Amino acid sequence: MVLQLTPIDRAKFAAARRAVDLVEDGMKLGLGTGSTAAWMVRALAERVREENLRLTCVATSRRTAELGREVGLKILPLDEAGWLDLTIDGTDEFDTDLTLIKGGGGALLMEKIVATASDRMVVITDASKEVKTLGHFPLPVEVIPFGWQASRMLIEELLNAMDVMGTNATLRMNGERPFVTDEGNHILDLSLGRIGNPRQLSLALNQVPGVVENGLFIDICDAVVIGYADGRVEFRDLTEGTIENERIVFEETDNIFRDL
Ligand code: A5P
Repeated sequence: MVLQLTPIDRAKFAAARRAVDLVEDGMKLGLGTGSTAAWMVRALAERVREENLRLTCVATSRRTAELGREVGLKILPLDEAGWLDLTIDGTDEFDTDLTLIKGGGGALLMEKIVATASDRMVVITDASKEVKTLGHFPLPVEVIPFGWQASRMLIEELLNAMDVMGTNATLRMNGERPFVTDEGNHILDLSLGRIGNPRQLSLALNQVPGVVENGLFIDICDAVVIGYADGRVEFRDLTEGTIENERIVFEETDNIFRDL
């Protein structure tokens, strides 16, 4: 079954499968959002079934909460779960410092809250998302609907003073209507081309009235698991300063696909 997936999905699955090995009985876990995180949720549920693990999970979006419950995971609100041991999530871009751009799926606000309420954040990805300089992927910024056009103007103005290549902020749409996040907000996608100073940009964006949060994750991510279509995985741990290369054997994990 895994071999019928597209190469990119096999890579995402391999990364997700390896990251789930980090989970230990009794842990409190943050579950990310997106297609890579969805593989992780399924692989996690398989481990829970097979090993009778007792876990408490917090989802970073309604979508992930629904999937988690569907596959039998115990999902609690963050405030009930308390501090988390580990969050595993996908990313849209990452650099060598493990600074991330997230929010392509529109869940950046809950993703950032959950990741920063965890002892450890591990990102799962395919190799295509690694960049030398962030900014090729448009940077999502969550803004409240009231006065969003004024917030956009202020953002475009501040971008003129930042070390970026573009200043265009586009309202994310869902068909004919503005996209609405789980918290009822909108998203502006900033076409920046390159982000020379992510820390400065992140601080400046969060000063704009109406901005709730931006998709730059700085000093939050501790490790990355990079998957490849042939099952190879590279596990780079920034905190430990280690890099491990392994291989996932797809056949052994086939039954996570039985309910797809
Ligand atoms: C969701 O808002 C995002 O931050 C996702 O984690 C990110 O877009 C990665 O998604 P995929 O795993 O689907 O590429």
